[in-house]
Amino acid sequence: MKTIETGSTLRAELAKLPKPLVLVPTMGALHEGHLSLIRRARELAGPTGTVVVSIFVNPIQFDRASDLEGYPRPMEADLAVCEAEGVDVVFTPEVSSMYFPDRSITVLEQSLSQTLCGATRPGHFDGVCTVVLKLFLLSGCEIAVFGEKDYQQLAIIRRMVRDLNVPVEIVGGPTVREADGLAMSSRNVKLTAEQRADAPRIRKALLKASEALTKEEILQIASEEISASPLTRIDYLSLVDAETLQPVDDLNRPTVLATAVFYGDVRLIDNIQISAR
Ligand code: PAJ
Repeated sequence: MKTIETGSTLRAELAKLPKPLVLVPTMGALHEGHLSLIRRARELAGPTGTVVVSIFVNPIQFDRASDLEGYPRPMEADLAVCEAEGVDVVFTPEVSSMYFPDRSITVLEQSLSQTLCGATRPGHFDGVCTVVLKLFLLSGCEIAVFGEKDYQQLAIIRRMVRDLNVPVEIVGGPTVREADGLAMSSRNVKLTAEQRADAPRIRKALLKASEALTKEEILQIASEEISASPLTRIDYLSLVDAETLQPVDDLNRPTVLATAVFYGDVRLIDNIQISAR
């Protein structure tokens, strides 16, 4: 396994390696959710193709300095995990090698990012799109794998690739969960024992709500289940069109019930897809 730290070296090195080139972008603190994407990338690359994992805590997608500073960065453990998974190349750039101090061009998304996480985190998805496009260009990957846990992120990246004619195939991977249903996240380690014990209620709420037949019932059930704990504060709970992410009035198309819940300072997200009724 090779570790590469600068963009110019990455392009030159990857050009020598066998195709297809499959990229898994991450911010590190790798857990089983990330590993499932790395394994999917290996399936897509085949035994002779090249799997690249990027580990970069992207400052321009954070809206709170405390969140950026407190983001876990266990680099040695992450590299060991990548090695064990048979990753071919890990890209670990410094912030200074990704962004010029006077950078002035950003990818702007103006529709799908108006709802859900985008509504309360202005500029977040522009930061995500900008770094993901840079990673695509720096690596020259043909395929990139993203998790459905970040449903809005995946939808927005598909839209970016469509709208900007980016020659990268986007593949989604299912959400990996703890045994009690909590979606795996690098942020879970920041929960207190009491919060961690309570957090599976998010998944339970979405599952229970997804059985209901009307939009109103779905939102009410999920809201009640999550708010039943004094530890939670709902950031948003929305039922949106699965593709456009706009709020829906009825359930005659595939929708997604998505939520972000605060436990103290820790913000957890989850979603469930709801088929047309
Ligand atoms: P990060 O949060 O590290 O996630 C990297 C990838 O892992 C994303 O595609 C995310 O959806 C996926 N992932 C996280 N938890 C998962 C789980 N429990 N099951 C399945 N997949 C999971 O998302 C980002 O980083 C960044 O925004 C990034 C795309 C790297 C751009 O900076």
